[in-house]
Amino acid sequence: MVQKVEIVIDGKSVELPVLEASEGLNVIDVRGIIKEGLFTFDPGFLSTASCESNVTYIDGDNGILLYRGYAIDQLAEGSSHMEVCYLLLNGELPDESQLSQFTKDINDRMPVDEHFQHIFDGFTKNSHPMSMVCAAIAGLASLQHDSLDISDPAYRKEAALQLIAKIPTIAAMAYKKSIGEEFIAPDSSLTYAENFLHMCFGKKGEQPNVSSTLSAAMDRIFILHADHEQNASTSTVRMAGSTECNPFAAIAAGTAALWGPSHGGANEAVLDMLVEIGDESNIEEYVAKAKDKEDPFKLMGFGHRVYKNFDPRATVMQSSAHAVLEEQGASEDPLLKIAQKLETIAREQDYFIDRNLYPNIDFYSGITLKAMGIPTTMFTVIFTLGRMPGWITHWDEMIAAPFKIARPRQLYLGEHKRDYVSIDNR
Ligand code: SDX
Repeated sequence: MVQKVEIVIDGKSVELPVLEASEGLNVIDVRGIIKEGLFTFDPGFLSTASCESNVTYIDGDNGILLYRGYAIDQLAEGSSHMEVCYLLLNGELPDESQLSQFTKDINDRMPVDEHFQHIFDGFTKNSHPMSMVCAAIAGLASLQHDSLDISDPAYRKEAALQLIAKIPTIAAMAYKKSIGEEFIAPDSSLTYAENFLHMCFGKKGEQPNVSSTLSAAMDRIFILHADHEQNASTSTVRMAGSTECNPFAAIAAGTAALWGPSHGGANEAVLDMLVEIGDESNIEEYVAKAKDKEDPFKLMGFGHRVYKNFDPRATVMQSSAHAVLEEQGASEDPLLKIAQKLETIAREQDYFIDRNLYPNIDFYSGITLKAMGIPTTMFTVIFTLGRMPGWITHWDEMIAAPFKIARPRQLYLGEHKRDYVSIDNR
């Protein structure tokens, strides 16, 4: 096993230690290289590990995703989002009493303070739900401000429970606000996914009436989105959290980062793309646009920084899509036909094969969510809901150990030092 590497700087041999991973690539520890008068350079962090972590591991070449060592396809098949939240936060699967207590702890915290709900009054009816959710998550700090002690493990645990518990309620409130309907309170008799669907689609004064197929599909969607190593939004949570801000602020920062169409906003962008393509006869034209370097158009839902084969979550999501479409009697959904044709083309054409551009999780999640009657503007909100346990677990993992504020350096290419010239001499 390689224990160190040697580089030569101005004729001088410099040894850098190699740190060994339990899975995947080892890392060259370059922390000492600044003493040699050099920075490392890696915009976009293609080859850079930003931290050490025990939470999630992705083998991009073999399409493997492990949450605390458990494979995503096994968790999607046999676990529940509550159990996965417990697993991510605590590192081990719960026994029955632990799961029951954790579920109660979450259930008890789902209601949102009556007065706090007025945060939504500040938004116009056409506001994107993600803008409301970002604001509401940051606003949760106002309900805890007298006890924001991030060095206290008990406080960090309470913050984790609060965020996992309140995100479905906040997400549903954003949806109800966007359709001009009254908020529906959480119902403690329902499961986590049932409650979210009830708070979105229930009507004031009516008994909950949630389809078991849809709640099972939604729970699986939450599991598939729960964590994914140091992706852009999780790295944002870590960077924001490294300033010792409160967890609600750090998570709100991660939520804002997730919104981008290159990241969590891709599921909404996939649906918009399929609608724009409109018919199978137009697919070749859009595939040509995707290949054209002069055209900014990309096939949304394709490609991934880490997966260079299939995204195991997309495989699970594809089967979920079929089950939901079947139940909704929409198995002939024209958008699904376009999606399937796109996937076939991408798997046959060199441009996509050479660049390892295969469907990622966002490609089929949009179709599944649309079949469930979820509006496209809520797709990234649902991604936020699913990813919450992952974000808060990475934040806690960082804060629980010694950490430094994240402060990258740069390759400066600007002006040399020059003297100020007063305006009448310019
Ligand atoms: C998520 O990181 C995570 O883990 C994220 C995520 C999570 O769970 O947190 O998995 C969730 O964000 C999934 C990705 C969702 N985004 C999309 O579906 C948007 C479309 N995909 C692309 O924007 C892109 O593939 C990225 C952003 C996902 C990855 O970008 P990279 O790794 O920086 O790759 P790149 O842009 O350098 O592309 C390499 C080549 C380029 O061509 P060349 O210059 O080599 O000729 O592939 C091309 C790109 O032009 N390319 C695409 C393409 N994606 C990359 N061409 C057409 N369509 C695409 N979608």
